[in-house]
Formats: sequence, C-alpha cells, structure tokens
Amino acid sequence: MDQQPETNTRAGLAQDAVARDAAQQSARRRTFAIIAHPDAGKTTLTEKLLLKGGAIQLAGAVRAKGNARRTRSDWMKIEQDRGISVATSVMTFERDNLIFNLLDTPGHEDFSEDTYRTLTAVDAAVMVLDGAKGIEAQTLKLFEVCRLRDIPIVTFINKMDREGRDPMDLLDEIEKTLALDVTPAAWPIGQGRDLLGVYDIVNPALRLLGEEGDEVIPVSGLDDPILDARIPAPLLAELREQVGLVTMGYPEFDMDAFLQGTMTPVFFGSALRDFGVGQLLDGLGRMAPPPRARAADTRDVVPGEGRLSGFVFKVQANMDPNHRDRVAFLRICSGRLEKGMRLTQTRTGKQVPVNAPLFFFAKDRQVAEEAWPGDVVGIANHGTLRIGDTLTEGEALNFRGVPSFAPEHLRRARLEDPMLAKKLKKALEQLADEGVVQLFRPLDGSPPVVGVVGLLQLDVLASRIKVEYGVPVSFEATHWDQLRWFASDDKDAVERFTRQHKADLAEDHDGEMVAFFTSDWRRRRAEEEFPALTFHAVREQH
Ligand code: G4P
Repeated sequence: MDQQPETNTRAGLAQDAVARDAAQQSARRRTFAIIAHPDAGKTTLTEKLLLKGGAIQLAGAVRAKGNARRTRSDWMKIEQDRGISVATSVMTFERDNLIFNLLDTPGHEDFSEDTYRTLTAVDAAVMVLDGAKGIEAQTLKLFEVCRLRDIPIVTFINKMDREGRDPMDLLDEIEKTLALDVTPAAWPIGQGRDLLGVYDIVNPALRLLGEEGDEVIPVSGLDDPILDARIPAPLLAELREQVGLVTMGYPEFDMDAFLQGTMTPVFFGSALRDFGVGQLLDGLGRMAPPPRARAADTRDVVPGEGRLSGFVFKVQANMDPNHRDRVAFLRICSGRLEKGMRLTQTRTGKQVPVNAPLFFFAKDRQVAEEAWPGDVVGIANHGTLRIGDTLTEGEALNFRGVPSFAPEHLRRARLEDPMLAKKLKKALEQLADEGVVQLFRPLDGSPPVVGVVGLLQLDVLASRIKVEYGVPVSFEATHWDQLRWFASDDKDAVERFTRQHKADLAEDHDGEMVAFFTSDWRRRRAEEEFPALTFHAVREQH
C-alpha cells in the first residue's frame, strides 16, 4: 500500500492550519520604521500615528523621550533608565483591521548602527523630511541602507504649516539626490500660515486642515465646483496649475516599482498640527507590503509556513535593573510563535525556551500568547541569544543580512582598579552581544580592542559599565584608526598576509578575522599588495 502523505498525519494537518493562519495574519501586518534626520519630526509623527491607532496613553512616553534625548546628559540618563529607551523600541497599534508594528530607531547619529540593524527587521519605511530643509545628511545615510535592502519607502514632507521650500523643488531634490522616482499622492494647498490642506491626488478629495484633524471632502476631480466653494480663487488657480503639472511631469503610482524600492509616493502634512497623518497611515496600510519571503542561507522562507522562524536584530541587556535579564528582539518571519515553545538557535543547535514572549507597548510589557510573521517579540534570556541569531522549530537555516559596520574608533579599556579585570571582560562581552560595542581579540594576546561607530557610544559604554557592572573604566586611543574584515579562498595569500601583519590582526566577537590599519594609505596599500584577499567594511552577522 502507498504510504500516507505527510499532510495526512495529525501533525501535518495541524501544521497546515498554522500555515493558513500565518498567511492570513501576516497579510494584516505592516511592520515599518521611520527614517529621518534629527529634528525633522520623527518623534512628533510617531506620537500622532499612535494616537490615530487609538494608543493615546502612549503618546506621553514618546514625547518624553523626544524631549529628553536633546542633550547628551539627558540622553545618558535615559539610557540608564532602561524603562524608557526600550519601552519605545516596538510600538504596535491597530487601525482598520491592520496591525502596524512601528520599530523605533535611535535618533542620534552615533547610534546609526542600531538603526541599520533595525531596518533589517522592517518591511517598509516612512522617510520624514523637513519641508524647509529637504534631504539632510542622516536622511541620505538611512536611505542608502533602505536601498541596499530594497525597502519600499513612503515619503512624508513635514512641517508644511511653516514657511518652507517650494514643493516642486522638494520633489526634484528627492528624485535627483536619491535617484528615485517620485509620485505625489497629495498636493499642498498653500503653505506656512496659509496652509489650507492638501488635494488628495490618489483618491480625489480635499483634505482640509480642521480643528480636529483632517476634514475630508470627496470631490470628482480638480474641476469639481466644491473646490471653488472651499478654496480662495488665487490659491485654487495655483493648485489647479500645479497639480496639472505634477501629474503630467511625474509618473503615476506603480506598485511594483514601489515594492522594489525604486519609487516613492510623497505625502505632505504637519505632524505637529496632526495634519496629513491619517492620509499617510491610510497610504501605508494600502501600499506598504505585508511580510514577504525572506532569504536564508538554504532557501527563501515565506510567512505562510507552518513552522516558526525568525531572527534577532536587537538585544537589550539589563532592562530591568532588578533582574539581570537580557531581552532579544525577535522578528518573526514565518509560522506562529506560541508561549511556551522551545526554539532552536541555529548557530549553536541549542534549545531556547520561550516561556514568556513579550510584546512592548510603550512603557508596558505584556506577555504574548501568540505572535505572527511581521511581529516583534522580546525574549528574555541570560545571554544565549545574540544579534543575527536565527530561531526555528528545528530547521537548520540562517537568515542573512544583519550587518556589522567597521568601527571608526578603536580603543582599549583602561581600568582604574586592575582587580576588576574579570568583571570588565564579562561586561564587554555582554555589551558586545548586545551590539553596543564591537569587541576584537588581537592575535598577539594583547588586551581586547573595542570599536565604536560614533564617539558618543564610548560615553554610553563607560557609563553603562560603571552603573551596571560596578567597574569604573575609561578608554584610550590605539594607534589604529580603521579595520577591515578579510577573507580569501587563497590560503597562501591569507598566510602571507597574516605573517606580514601579525601585530595588526584580531578576531571579532564571532571569531572572524579582521585587520587593523593606521591610515587609509596603509589599508589601500595592503589591498593592492594582496589582490587575492577581499576586504570588507561591512559584515553580515550570522
Ligand atoms: P525628531 O524626533 O525627528 O528629532 O523631531 P521632533 O518630533 O522631536 O521634532 C523636532 C522639532 O520640530 C520639535 O520642536 C517639534 O515640535 C517640531 N515639529 C515637528 N513636527 C512639526 C510640524 O509639523 N510643524 C512644525 N511647525 N514643527 C514641527 P522643538 O521646539 O525642537 O521641540 P518641542 O519643544 O516642540 O518638543
């Protein structure tokens, strides 16, 4: 007799059911981040998005953070007060039967590495621009990361209640600077003090700035007499002319191009006045993709699979000062996460119990009974889980693409009390697991080298080592100013290079080889001398 196909077994049927649910549930998820240059209005917009999602009680927490991180000392206080900075890492809200997961990213540019990693866990991004400034340095950097990952981007031009630049200019700038097709989803009616609202190009309507959010008046098109009744003649003439121009001059919205990250729809509004935010959120719900297939080393994983998979993109230690726990943030890619599951950490083959997966709601954490693709849950553990780890129900696969960036500052820790060396080692290792710092062990046996992308990271590092581990420490410069990961199939070349550069080699936290250099010139010379080796400034973590 023929053997029964697997799906006829009870386990197979249960898995099919999970797969169906996972497909349905993931279709409702929109997991995104906001990218912005500091001060463009990310915090204000976040607050308003949460309000729209009915999460009013959260707004205070977001605002508190926005204000508090303005100065360095305040920021450090916040970092030490684990509650707030973590609390706002993931914000979940529901609207029109969709579940939005907004992953927060730190605003300060020294922490961009954390931001980059967070961007590996989202399916879309909202790019916020200040209407008076357009594209700024940090916008550009973050955009480049989105482009590397083909993350679809929705643009929100903020602060339209202030005098700013000509909207046409802004569109041109986005198109030219980012080499991205733009398609206006709306067009402002007036600007600054004269801002009346926007004309919705996608679903023809007037969206007027009202006392309580947008007043939406559906219209048949630009010739609808309602426009004449509601908009002063000079503004209306200008609107008709401009919308005529932009709809002719810019392409129509093209879903495929958007999903491939080559086209961005542009919305206009004022986060402060809560104007245009509803339209943005509706647009995000309509256009931003639900979780998609994700590449792992062995195959592509689709959300609607019966078995769970996910990866850790962030680890936060000592969130609760009373318990020395560490929370790993897991982005779910397929299947269903259930409370009480045991998952496999594919890097080591170890079993990880997930007894109380946490959802985060601003200041509160809440135990999740179940979670689906697109969701992010926190898993408390004692240092087992690292950034880049993949968790599955047993399948040996590894998701790709949580990056490490070559640090720009290399330091050595100096202890005031040598008796604390062991404690310092543990602190550095734990903070390296958390991704706060990169740790390198020189091959010549000299003390470890710490690497950071931004100098402010060193202050935070010293402060956390003191507060959380009781070790006063400072950091002194090394003679190196840069490093590269290197690899080659040519063993001889590696050996020659290793021999020649012995004093400048180290292993990173995961045992990968790096070379330190004292200048650009020396690095370039090494690259020229050893063409068989490839040198990388970015490394994917596994
Ligand atoms: P960020 O998180 O991107 O750094 O920006 P944040 O929201 O904190 O906003 C930066 C400043 O811009 C804040 O002003 C905020 O009130 C203001 N802002 C944000 N959105 C708008 C907008 O749509 N219109 C106008 N006119 N201003 C906006 P601040 O004075 O620096 O801080 P605060 O004292 O108001 O908090």
